[in-house]
Amino acid sequence: MPDALLKLLSDEKTAEDKIIDKYDNVRVVDSGEELPVYKINLPFLTPADKSTIEAVQRVATRVIDLRKEDLDSRKRKESIKEKVEELLAKSTTINAPKSKLKVYADIVSREIGGYGLLDYLLDDDQLEEVMVVPPKRDVYVFHRKHGMLLAGITLDNDEYVRNIIERIARDVGRRVDTSYPLLDSRLPSGDRVNATIKPASIDGPTLTIRKFREDPYTMVDMIKFGTLSEEIAAFLWTCVDGMSARPSNIIISGGTSSGKTTLLNCLAMFIRPTDRVVTIEDTAELKLPLKHWLRLETRPAGIEGTGELSMDILLKNALRMRPDRMIVGEVRHKEAATLFTAMNTGHQGSMGTIHANNSDETLIRLSNPPMSVPEQMSTALDLIVVENKINDRRKGMIRRITEISEVGGKRKPELNILYEWDGNKDRLEQIAQKFAVKKKIASFGGTTEDEFEKEVNIRAKLLKTSVEKGFNDIKRFSMLVHKYYSKADDGKA
Ligand SMILES: Nc1ncnc2c1ncn2[C@@H]1O[C@H](COP(=O)(O)OP(=O)(O)OP(=O)(O)O)[C@@H](O)[C@H]1O
Ligand SMILES: [Mg+2]
Repeated sequence: MPDALLKLLSDEKTAEDKIIDKYDNVRVVDSGEELPVYKINLPFLTPADKSTIEAVQRVATRVIDLRKEDLDSRKRKESIKEKVEELLAKSTTINAPKSKLKVYADIVSREIGGYGLLDYLLDDDQLEEVMVVPPKRDVYVFHRKHGMLLAGITLDNDEYVRNIIERIARDVGRRVDTSYPLLDSRLPSGDRVNATIKPASIDGPTLTIRKFREDPYTMVDMIKFGTLSEEIAAFLWTCVDGMSARPSNIIISGGTSSGKTTLLNCLAMFIRPTDRVVTIEDTAELKLPLKHWLRLETRPAGIEGTGELSMDILLKNALRMRPDRMIVGEVRHKEAATLFTAMNTGHQGSMGTIHANNSDETLIRLSNPPMSVPEQMSTALDLIVVENKINDRRKGMIRRITEISEVGGKRKPELNILYEWDGNKDRLEQIAQKFAVKKKIASFGGTTEDEFEKEVNIRAKLLKTSVEKGFNDIKRFSMLVHKYYSKADDGKA
């Protein structure tokens, strides 16, 4: 057990602490430091408790066969906790109240089955990310409401962090050592993890865990957060589905952790359940309410330098799988050219994300190395949706769609900015008078732009009702969308 557990800052409440937020066993306080501090209230432990816990941990490590336990640390922890509780109940040497025994079992199960102290942070749904920073092993967390915070926990030594990293590597069937000091993977729980050790990270081990939401955000959540309005969401929905005649090719752009993957997931939930969907990601993060869905994940080359499954290899393979839709998690390298070749040869409705700050930059990044998509090919793109993470003076950390553009042109891509975010009004303002994408979709479906508008209005109303009724969970919301499609097909919508 780390000494840190005894000296958790949470026990040192000082007079200057100003409480910013309080929930469950968590307090977010302003201690006059650069960043607010995230504190967890843990059971108070005495040095005697500590030595008992260490003794229990030694016995538990001996009698519990970790190889037989689940690879998902949460499940493993639960099962170990039960076993340790049994062990303690039978013990004749440890005499402590029942509540304390439960605390011992909890700590031991986290230490040998989970990810130690970090588990307290991973358990909090309000946290998006947990980060360990060398050389002092400071732990930062990114809070949904309060943004970046310093967590009030200290990890004793690099060995402790290395042990956690090695356990994570084992859980995902990888190895991290000086010959390959990097780990980028997805935990069995769905969390995305990146870890580095020396010599890659010169000051010591680093760990970055992006927490996975069991119940993913839907478009209803996006509207509730103010990321976009019902009307714009309905417009994007109609483009994704293309009124079942001409689904749009869409790229979502934005900076790091601006919400690109989340928005891509929300848009992909509008794909018709009759479509065959192939997704290709570096670490599988997408969660779709579809049965006919094939998930591919890249893999780096092994130690011998062979066996790499790059995005490009997987995308080329996907093209042979007769997909109706191809979704590329993050477009970065030469797979961009493969994706655009596919778009140009009739694979409509492809989607992906790109790291870029606006539509203009998206096109520049696409046409330059390492993506190198010939300009003429970029014209196959229909929409660029840009999202940004903004630190608003009044509202705190917010995520907003800041630009929606359509791509036109024949030899060279030409941008037509449809909507632009106005920071003062916190609203997307319509810029363009004419939207070519509406015309394109309507003419493919043999209908008119007015029909397109009508469709958008109906869908906006449906989204509004879903927001009002709180139908934000993926199951209920996707059922509603799928029902809408089947009624629309029967002409009853
Ligand atoms: N519109 C939103 N409102 C509030 N939180 C959001 C929103 N979109 C995403 N998030 C949260 O922000 C975090 C980052 O989101 P996401 O992984 O989608 O970003 P990203 O741009 O794909 O990041 P990366 O650049 O690392 O791939 C997640 O924890 C997610 O739950
Ligand atoms: Mg992403």
